[in-house]
Amino acid sequence: MTRSDARPIRASAPGKIIILGEHFVVHDSLAISAAINKRASVLVWPSADEKSIVSYKGTRSYLTKDDHKFVAVKSVARKAMKDFEANERVHIEIESELPPGSGLGSSAAVSVATAAAMLEFFGVKANQENVLKLASPGEAAVHGNASGIDIATSYSGGAILFNRTKGFEPIQTTKQVQFLVVFSNTERNTSELIQKVSSVRDSYPSTFGTLVQSISRFCELGVEAIQKHDLPLLGSLMNLSQTALDWIGVSNSSIEKLIEKINSAGPCYGVKITGAGGGGSVIALPGESSSQKTASTLSQEYRHTFLTDLSQEGLKIDD
Ligand code: MEV
Repeated sequence: MTRSDARPIRASAPGKIIILGEHFVVHDSLAISAAINKRASVLVWPSADEKSIVSYKGTRSYLTKDDHKFVAVKSVARKAMKDFEANERVHIEIESELPPGSGLGSSAAVSVATAAAMLEFFGVKANQENVLKLASPGEAAVHGNASGIDIATSYSGGAILFNRTKGFEPIQTTKQVQFLVVFSNTERNTSELIQKVSSVRDSYPSTFGTLVQSISRFCELGVEAIQKHDLPLLGSLMNLSQTALDWIGVSNSSIEKLIEKINSAGPCYGVKITGAGGGGSVIALPGESSSQKTASTLSQEYRHTFLTDLSQEGLKIDD
């Protein structure tokens, strides 16, 4: 079944920050993540071209071509075309506010938006189960052994408590918590970092196992801290988890320098890597009265600097 009219289907999904638990979540710890106020959109319409096309800002590539372009979108769209035994051609257009390789969930956002847009294009109502199932190959193509936290956050919006075997639940907030996000301007390769962490686990299984348990406990305390608006506790948990991320080898001197700059720009309860590390982005929990000033100081040197809270919308499909 296909849509007979030529009006594009448009779906959009947010990027994400990981507040506590990245990398350890791959090894089954709990993690806390949240959607951010930057999104990616995917539009799908029937194509008059001889082959299906993916495009972004004037760059076009055939859906079936393996040219390392639009890897996440192509993985998801090819799976959809196969699942629906589609004979027709489609045009898939990407729009994104998320810098790629920044650790802010750009590939998850486009995977979730593509999955939803393709499902709706083929006449199937998008829901949590079918979107996450169809978006998974996009995440796997870019991140290898991904836990699924990025696509779950992008789908759900808001803040979630996630575990790769147990699934996820929303974290209800009464008062907003604002985070500062700064992209270090250094792209990173998540798949390589995940492999690096696995080799640390193989070399130090007992210490690593203790850290997985500790991070899960930090997340339980983190949920309480968010719900009680206990920013000093949440910031301390972020700082402790940064120490663990440093120990597993995903921090580096440019991240440490950025953390120092954030701390000296204004009072912060906590600062840490968000996502895979090795470059990518850093999040901070700034003092409530100083957040704007800290953000504007950092933005002079780091173009992608912004504030976001825990109330951001997840997957959205335009009527
Ligand atoms: C990447 O945003 C988070 C990692 O924990 C990988 C994953 O969980 O899929 C590094």
